[in-house]
Amino acid sequence: MKPRRQHVLLLWLLLSSGVLTEAIEPISTTIAVGVAATLTAFIASYPNMFFYFHECCRPEWISFNRTGLQADLDKKLFGQHIASRIISKAVNGFMTNNNPKKPLVLSLHGWTGTGKNFISKLIAENIYEKGMQSSFVHVFTSTLHFPHQSQFLEYKSQLQQWIKGNVTNCERSMFIFDEMDKMHPGLIDCIKPYLDYYDNLEGVSYRKAIFVFLSNAGGDSIAQTALDFWKGGQSREEIKLKDLETLLSLSVFNNNQSGFFRTSLIDKNLVDFFVPLLPLEYKHVVQCAMAEMEARDTKPNQHVADMVAKDLIYFPKAERVFSVKGCKTIESKLDYYL
Ligand SMILES: Nc1ncnc2c1ncn2[C@@H]1O[C@H](COP(=O)(O)OP(=O)(O)OP(=O)(O)O)[C@@H](O)[C@H]1O
Ligand SMILES: *[C@@H]1O[C@H](CO)[C@@H](O)[C@H](O)[C@H]1NC(C)=O
Ligand SMILES: *[C@@H]1O[C@H](CO)[C@@H](O)[C@H](O)[C@H]1NC(C)=O
Ligand SMILES: *[C@@H]1O[C@H](CO)[C@@H](O)[C@H](O)[C@H]1NC(C)=O
Ligand SMILES: [Mg+2]
Repeated sequence: MKPRRQHVLLLWLLLSSGVLTEAIEPISTTIAVGVAATLTAFIASYPNMFFYFHECCRPEWISFNRTGLQADLDKKLFGQHIASRIISKAVNGFMTNNNPKKPLVLSLHGWTGTGKNFISKLIAENIYEKGMQSSFVHVFTSTLHFPHQSQFLEYKSQLQQWIKGNVTNCERSMFIFDEMDKMHPGLIDCIKPYLDYYDNLEGVSYRKAIFVFLSNAGGDSIAQTALDFWKGGQSREEIKLKDLETLLSLSVFNNNQSGFFRTSLIDKNLVDFFVPLLPLEYKHVVQCAMAEMEARDTKPNQHVADMVAKDLIYFPKAERVFSVKGCKTIESKLDYYL
């Protein structure tokens, strides 16, 4: 069993208070000795106590919570039955395999505000004790980290060094590439070797790492399919992965605006799962608003949620089926209504 970090902290406090009083009042020496003895016994049974204070690449800080991920996908993620199933299967399979042949590579696609960053956060939180704050989770945003096309060669070697350095530090590292659409295709190609089936590259094994790509590429064709289902009177839940999969990889691959454009990532099947995110409907936006109110410790108010949801722009204009910005502007809208 893992000792709880809180217990360790408590012992630590006890000890320091014991030591302090000892300096003032000799009678407490007995207490201090008692506490010290307890602590010694404790350290003897958990020799790696040090690791409870500093995040490090060990199971105390990195361990997959399968039920936690499933619960989060079920309760916190709205309207994404396809993505939810793929993510759960993919991450469960990968994290419970002690000897994966290649790193896990996921590519999430969909309109803005449909939950791409949100899903990567849920994954990180159920693997790393510190979630997105973990020093083993790295987010690269193309417009922030790689803004100038002209400095491509510098970015390339920098990115390769970062990935190599970080995986050398901890093989269970997670890399999230945000705004893949805006990334130079050559930059994607330069990380290809890390995603492939190699035992190791220059002595470093990348097989336990996780790579997640986020982009809007393919979002329009996903939305079109969802709209076709809606127009045909079929429920959203009837949309299957196979209705979207081919379409998605084609539209991503052949779209010259996408960071994937004709990259060998797709050519060589290095992406394990293309994850389509469906555009969100009115009822999902209401759910997002309710969840956000709960997160702010204000009593969820259906009336406010409705007002927020009504404020958004929907597509197509006449039928108002899908929220154009998904759940993205809910937070600021709530500030206004609450
Ligand atoms: N499907 C969803 N279920 C629950 N909450 C959601 C969902 N989609 C979005 N949200 C909420 O909206 C916020 C914004 O979503 P997120 O940042 O994940 O969008 P995105 O898909 O990354 O969009 P973009 O393409 O603009 O980066 C999230 O923090 C989350 O609170
Ligand atoms: C895993 O997640 C569940 C649900 O969030 C939580 O109750 C449980 O304590 C977690 N388990 C561990 C080992 O952290
Ligand atoms: C790990 O990646 C970060 C960027 O997220 C970078 O700043 C850092 O230098 C990298 N570490 C190593 C050891 O390369
Ligand atoms: C991208 O493709 C479209 C048509 O598919 C074309 O009109 C446009 O000029 C292309 N842009 C670039 C930068 O190649
Ligand atoms: Mg995002």
